[in-house]
Amino acid sequence: MAGNVKLSLLARGWLQMTVTWTSGYDISEAYPFVEWGKVGAVAAPTRTPAGTLTFSRGSMCGEPARTVGWREPGFIHTAFMRDLWPNKEYYYKIGHELPDGSVVWGKAYSFRAPPSPGQNSLQRIIVFGDMGKAERDGSNEFANYQPGSLNTTDRLIEDLDNYDIVFHIGDMPYANGYISQWDQFTAQVAPISAKKPYMIASGNHERDWPNTGGFFDVEDSGGECGVPAETMYYYPAENRANFWYKVDYGMFRFCVADSEHDWREGTEQYKFIEQCLSTVDRKHQPWLIFAAHRVLGYSSNSWYAAQGSFEEPEGRESLQKLWQKYRVDIAFFGHVHNYERTCPLYQSQCVTGERSRYSGTMNGTIFVVAGGGGSHLSTYTTAIPNWSIFRDQDFGFVKLTAFNHSSLLFEYKKSSDGHVYDSFTVDRDYRDVLRCVHDSCFPTTLAT
Ligand SMILES: [Fe+2]
Repeated sequence: MAGNVKLSLLARGWLQMTVTWTSGYDISEAYPFVEWGKVGAVAAPTRTPAGTLTFSRGSMCGEPARTVGWREPGFIHTAFMRDLWPNKEYYYKIGHELPDGSVVWGKAYSFRAPPSPGQNSLQRIIVFGDMGKAERDGSNEFANYQPGSLNTTDRLIEDLDNYDIVFHIGDMPYANGYISQWDQFTAQVAPISAKKPYMIASGNHERDWPNTGGFFDVEDSGGECGVPAETMYYYPAENRANFWYKVDYGMFRFCVADSEHDWREGTEQYKFIEQCLSTVDRKHQPWLIFAAHRVLGYSSNSWYAAQGSFEEPEGRESLQKLWQKYRVDIAFFGHVHNYERTCPLYQSQCVTGERSRYSGTMNGTIFVVAGGGGSHLSTYTTAIPNWSIFRDQDFGFVKLTAFNHSSLLFEYKKSSDGHVYDSFTVDRDYRDVLRCVHDSCFPTTLAT
């Protein structure tokens, strides 16, 4: 009756965790709530009520979502567990209280509360895009549209004890207007999302539909125009129809952008991105990460190479000055279904010949395509640009490990075996972030 549980964080991620789930009960039929508490505590569990949302056929923008693809989504509930102790283990269970007072319970799960912003502890992040879903019985119902999807899901389920939070940066189920596929996808990832915050970004297959205010006038969402994604997952955007948000996780700050809405200078989103990048105190949160679905940075994927741009149209022209000014460490993208990593770049030029051990002054951003979550693979151009350090045309995902404020490990793993095929380290101190490079500092004077 109720299931497909997913955890999520708020912007100042610590202290709180949200849990979102789907049921067949509207609020007039049963009251949704979450019962939760600290593992090992003697205190009685807390019951916190959940809010309820749904969406109707009329909220879909076109076909097939409005016609043959429509299916009632049920009711989507979100509850906020508050005043959590950083890094402590909690248990929780969703429930619905019926009019006669009896309760229909979900399964019991546990999670670890997020670290406070700036907290020095081991912090491990998973990043990938474009995963999709598939059938375990081999029925091949979706014509092998996302052939790597189950491998990626299974590697992440096996490895649950070795990471803390997941970022799935767009193109989630590829439901494309067939609404029931959202439930198939959320069920597939529930063993992960019930235990780890599962943070998402918006992709073309979630949002794009002609004449609906997006940046790309294409039909990739099958008429969904963002409604299922924006309702079925919680993420800390001020207006969830604008899919951009920031989230702090210990020593990390993530600025998640929405590549399906205009990001250029002068837009509301551009202002948000600058605000997100500029308001982080790097002595406590040294690891600054940008993410978006489409490649706003660099990719030598064949269709971008054919355009001669190695990016989406106008992808980086406005944003690169922000990445540089605010010294973004790594910018992640999906959309292209393969893996690629660049050297640290300043205006398309490598700022160092080093390939795997970065240290000292920070003067460039590393761009990563991690779109090999599961959907059919994309090809590269044959000529390899000099900024492209590592390419892998296979299914995989990225893991970031912050050991402390000055040491970060980046690993790319294949979904087939979970082994590491590319990696690098960053070792630096606060002064290396502060040091003026390019246009990152105001002019100075020697006057006394
Ligand atoms: Fe995409």
